[in-house]
Amino acid sequence: MSKPLRKVVFPVAGLGTRFLPATKVVAKEMLPVLDKPLIQYAVDEAVDAGADTLIFVTNRYKHAIADYFDRAYELESKLHEKGKRDLLALVRGTLPRHVRAIFVTQPEALGLGHAVLCAKAVVGDEPFGVILPDDLIWNGGTGARKKSALRQMAELAEAEHAAVIAVEEVPHDETDKYGIVAATPIDERSARISHMVEKPKPADAPSNLAVVGRYVLPARIFRLLEQTTPGAGGEIQLTDAIDALLKEQGKVLAYRFEGIRFDCGNKAGLVRATMHMAMQDPQLAPVVREFLGRL
Ligand code: UTP
Repeated sequence: MSKPLRKVVFPVAGLGTRFLPATKVVAKEMLPVLDKPLIQYAVDEAVDAGADTLIFVTNRYKHAIADYFDRAYELESKLHEKGKRDLLALVRGTLPRHVRAIFVTQPEALGLGHAVLCAKAVVGDEPFGVILPDDLIWNGGTGARKKSALRQMAELAEAEHAAVIAVEEVPHDETDKYGIVAATPIDERSARISHMVEKPKPADAPSNLAVVGRYVLPARIFRLLEQTTPGAGGEIQLTDAIDALLKEQGKVLAYRFEGIRFDCGNKAGLVRATMHMAMQDPQLAPVVREFLGRL
């Protein structure tokens, strides 16, 4: 994959059952960590990685995501009238001017692999990134000199001409919650995957390197997804198609990114992310410390 990354897919058509009843009407990706919804952290990361085309795979209940990235004329004109320039910049800054957002629908929640496949016509024949917004990866925040996780991966994919999958070490007794890779180390952060196992019991796991929500993939994955039959839970699994890619191309890399991951798809992860972000904020950090001390 020698081309730079321009397109990133955000599969956001899941049901978000772990956040019911809120997700009856609020898309999981719109849940905030402090003042920004999860989807904004994901978009900032994609833009940092060089993307100018963002493809959101949504469902009919998730209009809020499109609304969020659209212009809010009434609000903007009120803020303008009142001279609230900082707030106006915040409202207008959800998407940089050079970046376009495209929305495609996943008619039925048939799995992550199927959601990615729904983006095929828009991605076309070039490498692309995938970000699962409920995995929030923080590496210094917007404007930091450190590279976002997807940028680190895109650079590796371009240099190595290979697909790159983000991995993280997880506790050995939690391997059955993740896709786990067996891999031969190349250097401190990257490794060559030999095979992948979906949710193995700790005794059967080949390692404790778990796949997390960032991928850089070649367009070839779409053909492989089309040939993938439903796997665990009757869903079309992205992991199965990546395994097929590995068999076909022989080289898929696992990458231990620099940054902290928060699994905001569950309550504990969202609380951790919120506390972490609050501790980065000079005004909020003492409030959190004082409050936790009292608790
Ligand atoms: P999850 O496994 O977290 O499922 O999906 P979910 O439905 O979002 O949440 P829970 O488990 O019910 O609480 C992982 C990612 O894949 C997307 C989700 O939106 C999320 O970003 N996804 C999953 C789809 O876009 N379509 C699907 O059919 C399934």
